[in-house]
Amino acid sequence: MALPPGPPIPAIAQTIAFILRPAQFIEWCRKKYGDIFTIDTLMFGREVEIVNPDLVKQVFTTDPDIARAGEANEILAPLVGHYSVLLLDGREHVRQRKLMMPPFHGEHVLGYGQIMRDITEKTVANWPAGVPFSMHPSAQHITLEVILRTVFGAEEGAQLNDLRDALTAILDQLSNPIKAIGQIPKFRKTFFGLTPWDDFLKAVAHADKLIYRQIARRRAESETGSTQRKDVLTMLLAARDEEDKGMTDQELRDELVTLLVAGHETTATMLCWAFDLILSHPDVYTKLLEELQSAGGAHADLTAINRLPYLDATIKEVLRFRPVIPAVGRRLKQPVQIGEYEIPAGEMLVPVIWLTQHASDVYPDAATFKPERFIDAKPDLYSWYPFGGGSRRCLGMAFALYEMKVILSAILTHANLKKAKPELSRVQLRGFTFVPHDGAQVVMTSRRPASVIA
Ligand code: HEM
Repeated sequence: MALPPGPPIPAIAQTIAFILRPAQFIEWCRKKYGDIFTIDTLMFGREVEIVNPDLVKQVFTTDPDIARAGEANEILAPLVGHYSVLLLDGREHVRQRKLMMPPFHGEHVLGYGQIMRDITEKTVANWPAGVPFSMHPSAQHITLEVILRTVFGAEEGAQLNDLRDALTAILDQLSNPIKAIGQIPKFRKTFFGLTPWDDFLKAVAHADKLIYRQIARRRAESETGSTQRKDVLTMLLAARDEEDKGMTDQELRDELVTLLVAGHETTATMLCWAFDLILSHPDVYTKLLEELQSAGGAHADLTAINRLPYLDATIKEVLRFRPVIPAVGRRLKQPVQIGEYEIPAGEMLVPVIWLTQHASDVYPDAATFKPERFIDAKPDLYSWYPFGGGSRRCLGMAFALYEMKVILSAILTHANLKKAKPELSRVQLRGFTFVPHDGAQVVMTSRRPASVIA
């Protein structure tokens, strides 16, 4: 059984090309080999890359017990833990996902809008005027605070500060390129507390202590029936499976860390791409402002924001044009026929979100950023899939889309922004994600008084 063709160069050369120019490398492969090809990199191993929506559909509709996403995410185990919904497959995945769904339903996430708006407004109030700055730290700050408040249910004060410090220490281990080397399975070595892996384990142990304390606090409240809270942790504590069993503390800890890892940097990066693109397209910027203004500006109703057609279309187009997670993986437990190839057990099938969403035979004028393409048009499940697909589609999709709407509208209605440099940011690989190389550099030319826009 031959695998689909791919670059006839050693894995090390493919790795270098992928690190230096990730988007160009995969685009070159697609041009040369078509809709299904094989690449091999030191970070991710051998992968069968899939582009055409019909083939993507085949992958996402294959029995999830055969095309396994949990196994494909195994590298995250030391951080998110073995009960993480990201790592489970089969019946265990179905159970855990069902338990986690209620707080992530569209209606429920609307209840988090005010927290999202308040956090954004406070952040914008600290921006300097007239000097270039990177959007990334602010976006990270906002999305971390949102998760601390809405998912962990942390309250202002020492509790929030300690948890923030502990979780930032873990996230720093992942995003700092030197420290991230310690994450590569081969380098996971302890040596008298001196290695990057030792630092990582210490950071996780410290964060775990605080997370378990938070779980105990909320569990005590839930047991006395005294809570009116709507945070995700409180809802997870109340969730019961078909045998009327709830989650253990270990399961809760693993899911909280999963939500942090899955929902923090992804949303922060999407916000950076959103500003990079919107500010580079004055017509889009103007239309967004007009729409927000007619909805009530800085004081627009938070539920109405969720239904603004141009804002919705713009976010969908940002996710098409710059999907932060460029590809998703499924490890095969048994051979599967994809197109004309029978792919053997053990191989990794990878629908490449980036390539499908940039294919000119899928999207007319694919290289142009054009929100209008999503006005009155529901995206197709297998040609627009920035949140992945099938039974593993992002659990936080409604949360993330709403969060992006609230944050974008709060920023746009409070600050006049322009790009620091005219050209679009270059795509850089960081971990599993595609990020703007400069964090999206912007300048706030002036503050918008609420009275002008409202
Ligand atoms: C713009 C922001 C986001 C993007 C682009 C994104 C994208 C993704 C993708 C591509 C997957 C893998 C799906 C697959 O394998 O088919 C995923 C899974 C997941 N995401 Fe997101 N995500 C975002 C935000 C969030 C947020 C805010 C949360 C929660 C707070 C979240 C929670 C999860 C979880 C729990 C999973 C695992 C689902 C499962 O395995 O069943 N994500 N996400």
